[in-house]
Amino acid sequence: MAMLSVRDLTKCFGGLRAVDNLSFDVEEREIVGLIGPNGAGKTTTFNLITGFLSPTAGEVIFDGRPLSDLKPHQICKLGLARTFQIVQPFPDITVLENALIGAYVRHPSTAAAERKARETLERVGLTHKADELAKNLTLIELKRLEIARVLATGPKMLLLDEVAAGLNLAEIDEILELVRELNDQGITFLVVEHVMKVIMSLSRRIIVLDFGKKIAEGTPDEVSRDPRVLEAYLGEEEAVA
Ligand SMILES: Nc1ncnc2c1ncn2[C@@H]1O[C@H](COP(=O)(O)OP(=O)(O)O)[C@@H](O)[C@H]1O
Ligand SMILES: [Mg+2]
Repeated sequence: MAMLSVRDLTKCFGGLRAVDNLSFDVEEREIVGLIGPNGAGKTTTFNLITGFLSPTAGEVIFDGRPLSDLKPHQICKLGLARTFQIVQPFPDITVLENALIGAYVRHPSTAAAERKARETLERVGLTHKADELAKNLTLIELKRLEIARVLATGPKMLLLDEVAAGLNLAEIDEILELVRELNDQGITFLVVEHVMKVIMSLSRRIIVLDFGKKIAEGTPDEVSRDPRVLEAYLGEEEAVA
């Protein structure tokens, strides 16, 4: 059984089919890439999977359970968590307090939540910043904190939305290394990226969206040579480079 199963998922905004009859599976411990040009429907797909939007049609099944009637916090509690394209840590509280908010999802006692939050900061390499206000972090540190916040909720699967956006190449490598480590520790990933090269080294399987539809699925090598994919990215050379 797949860990995540997306079945005939469709989302219409008025006349626009932002996600159009999309189906795919993610197996336990995989890192699957979801790519596509701007406006292809990647973030909408994440919003549908994690309960921030309800589908016009179709369904999402996580760990054998249909998610259709669940709210985002309930889906998070099942072990499916997501980051946001725009990092969302609370700026005026500390790094530790940000991680604590995630930890309380599964650890109602303050002592247990704090242990979990500190352990999570250790996993993402932010222990030395625990008492810093989030607004004083650099962008790469904020991305680490964004991951820590969701990691603290104890997920089996993480959805990352353009986690590399705004980072330089060295910083992107740091984030990719972190994702690989977390995957080695057992977390399954669905990773949305606009820039193809970020996903190439991370995923053995990539799904390509264009205008809400799946236009290709395969290894990085296969999709990067697929004429439909090249066509979809036409005029966005730096995204495929
Ligand atoms: N809440 C919304 N209301 C109306 N249109 C939306 C909304 N969210 C996204 N869209 C539209 O749906 C399409 C897909 O958007 P999105 O999922 O954000 O794409 P991506 O993340 O791949 O860049 C775009 O045309 C976008 O303008
Ligand atoms: Mg997006």
